[in-house]
Amino acid sequence: MLQSMRIIGGKPLNGEITISGAKNLALPALVAALLSDSEIILRNVPKLADINSLLGLLEFLGCDINYLDDHSISLKTDKIKSTEAPYDFVRKMRASILVLGPLVSRFKKASVSLPGGCAIGARGVDLHIKALELMGAQISIENGYIKAQAEKGLFGCDITFPIVTVTGTENALMAAVLAKGTTRVTNAAMEPEVIAFCNLLNKMGAKIAGHGTPIITIEGVESLRGTKFEIIPDRIETGTYAIAAALTNGKLLLKNCVYDDLFTFFEALQSAGIACEKDGLNNVLVYRKEGEIRPVDIQTAPYPGFPTDLQAQYSVLMSICSGTATVTENIFENRFMHVPELNRMGANIAIHGKTVVITAVKKLFGAQVMATDLRASVSLILAGLVADGETVVNRIYHLDRGYENIDKKLTECGANIERFSV
Ligand code: EPZ
Repeated sequence: MLQSMRIIGGKPLNGEITISGAKNLALPALVAALLSDSEIILRNVPKLADINSLLGLLEFLGCDINYLDDHSISLKTDKIKSTEAPYDFVRKMRASILVLGPLVSRFKKASVSLPGGCAIGARGVDLHIKALELMGAQISIENGYIKAQAEKGLFGCDITFPIVTVTGTENALMAAVLAKGTTRVTNAAMEPEVIAFCNLLNKMGAKIAGHGTPIITIEGVESLRGTKFEIIPDRIETGTYAIAAALTNGKLLLKNCVYDDLFTFFEALQSAGIACEKDGLNNVLVYRKEGEIRPVDIQTAPYPGFPTDLQAQYSVLMSICSGTATVTENIFENRFMHVPELNRMGANIAIHGKTVVITAVKKLFGAQVMATDLRASVSLILAGLVADGETVVNRIYHLDRGYENIDKKLTECGANIERFSV
């Protein structure tokens, strides 16, 4: 049964929103269970469709999974029964490619379906494969599957990524932690989720240094132990709700979030006239300083640059600013699918290659719109919150992949939003 979201716009959001655990850390953290035969317990795991999809794949591989409470999961992989990740799992959730590294490094073989296409871009996995080949895996592509063998195990080596790849870095890390010798990953991703992921692997007994810098060094060890680990807050969810507060001219206290994980993003918001104030250790208070939203150009970039996962949401904010702003997407080649839908709501956004020119309009108008990918769909929700009248966002399964209880969290701050089946 497909579901849609109906929003009646125009209500300022006021109150508090508690941020959930980071999807893009929880996913590799769950996969890390494949690296050890002892139990790992993850806390603050967000309840999301993507998490469920990955748990389905891990169960298929033979992982013992138990929910200890709504957000705590115990995983144990002492009885792996398969090293194959079938197409049916991988097509639903492309981060399933992360099982490649640990399966080869611990079990010396893997057969993982290629993820196939994605709405926001080609999103190849050539760099994941190259990293494993450099470490000694024999890899062939057969009938849409990556077939990997490493009878003698993997060997540490120097890996240089030509472009920053988040899950490519994470796959290389999971291959290297059990390899013989030392691996050095150059041009490694520095996202907070990658740093936290290295902290998890080190808690499991890995010997990783340099995480958070472009060069990460991993000294291979014989085996990894179990551990308990808390997932860090989701910075993309944090940024999404910060924009909701700015858009609706409300005031939101975002709880359990990390200001410094979004430093560049909050700087852009401050320049646009939005107050983003640290409140205690891990809260941020967001509201408009004066009435208007000033135009501020941004370009997406790997961390610590402006996050690509907040580009669509930021474009909604600029669509009602007091001038003209440009947003340039440097990471993915097709991440403007929200633009035609926003223009149907009265926005005035023109696409010029990898840049959009946003000429502000006085207001947006409610409309029937279609979600296409995770972050585009949440940008349509944001537009609905500020638009005049009723907006219906269809195909919101995209939304449930990455935002836990979004309708509940927004309703509690005064939004008029309801989910319904179509
Ligand atoms: C991660 O995707 C995130 N997903 C994405 O979040 C995020 O947008 C992206 O990093 C960039 O920050 C998870 O962490 C689960 P990349 P990932 O490899 O690792 C190209 C969301 O909305 N590339 O850093 O798949 C690729 O096509 C999602 O939560 C290759 O060409 O992204 C892209 O243009 C969306 N070959 C660029 O690199 C490769 O082998 C960066 O991609 C790998 C990547």
